[in-house]
Parts: sequence; C-alpha cells; structure tokens
Amino acid sequence: TVKACLFDLDGVIVDTAVYHFQAWRRLANELGFDFTEHQNEQLKGISRMESLELILQWGGVSLSEAEKLDWATKKNQWYLDLVLQMTPNEVLPGVPAFLDALRANGIKIALGSASKNSKLILEKIQMLDYFDAIIDGNNITKGKPDPQVFLMGAEATHSLPSECVVFEDAVAGIQAAKAGGMKAIGVGSAEVLTEADFVISTFEEMTIERLNF
Ligand code: G6P
Ligand code: MG
Repeated sequence: TVKACLFDLDGVIVDTAVYHFQAWRRLANELGFDFTEHQNEQLKGISRMESLELILQWGGVSLSEAEKLDWATKKNQWYLDLVLQMTPNEVLPGVPAFLDALRANGIKIALGSASKNSKLILEKIQMLDYFDAIIDGNNITKGKPDPQVFLMGAEATHSLPSECVVFEDAVAGIQAAKAGGMKAIGVGSAEVLTEADFVISTFEEMTIERLNF
C-alpha cells in the first residue's frame, strides 16, 4: 500500500512552468533567438544551469562561465518578479482537496523539486503547511532524471520506494521516479509523458482509490 506521495512543484502543484517559459524566452530573445513550446518540454524538471546550457545550445550561443552565471541570475530575477505576484488562487485545480484526502488517510506528503525557489513559492500560495518533507534544488547534488530527489523524499517520509507514488509533469521527472523504483503518475499530456503508469490532466481526476493500482 501507498505510504507517501511525492510531488513535483512546478507544473504539478502550481503552474509556474509558464513563468519559467516566459523568463527563459526573454533570455533567448535578448540573446537574439527564440525557442518553441515543444523545446520547452525538455527544460521541465531540470536545474537552472542545465536549462541555460540547453537553451544556449539551441541558439548556438557560447558564453563564458561568468556570463552564464549573469544570465542565469537575470532569468531568475525575471522569474521571481512573476512569482512574487502569485496568489493562492494559482494552486492547480483539485490539489488542495487531494492533499486533504491524503492527510485524512495518513499518507505522507513530500515535495521533490529541482527548484531553489520552492519554499518561497509554497509560501506565496499558502501550501507550505501541507508538506511533511521538502526536498528541493537546495538539497540535491544530482538532478532529475537521477532518482536522488525522490529517494530522499522516501527516506524523509520513512517509506520504501515501492510505497511511494510520484506526481510529475516532466519527462525527466517520470524517469527519475522510475529509476528510483517508484510508481509515477503523470500530470499533463499522455502523449508527452509516455513512461508514466498513467496520466491525469488535473488532480480533479485523482482519488485515494486510484493510488493503489
Ligand atoms: C523545476 C522546473 C524547471 C526549473 C527548475 C529549477 O524543475 O521544472 O523548469 O528550471 O525547477 O528551478 P529554479 O527555481 O531553481 O530556477
Ligand atoms: Mg515540473
């Protein structure tokens, strides 16, 4: 039976994925190129610096390490300008009700995110109190698709990987869950998240019964 649910943040609890996309596009545009929403799927779930490397490759732009850090900082400032305007209304549909149901059933709740901004975001949307454990970009040394972030979440909730269910909107995140020996439910499009056990489009479709498959 399921003892813990491990949630990605961006694109799962809240739609910050669109803010990341806006901020990265602005960076690309300022460097003189653009990229598509399709390419953006590859950025989901991966760290800030890894995302920057990919985008620079797409644009055929090479920068020094110092310039890279400068651009990453700029991107994060543009992103935080958007994050700071967030309200609890932006929590994705069905998320609070599902988390309440998990609590009522004694199932632990953990965050497994690559973001270094996760606590700030959870505060802005007033969701911090739901989480028994928070593992994020400040704790990990290996990013998704490495399973580290979710294995740490399992440990923090005193669960075995086989007792955990991961919720993810990113291909890299589903791969991380699977590499860790966990069940993985995709949030988004079944065409994109082909390696998930199953895919929901919103948490309104999710029930405690559907966890035990
Ligand atoms: C999440 C998002 C990525 C983002 C990464 C780092 O995994 O899906 O798009 O790049 O976190 O986020 P940060 O807030 O630290 O830049
Ligand atoms: Mg995500």
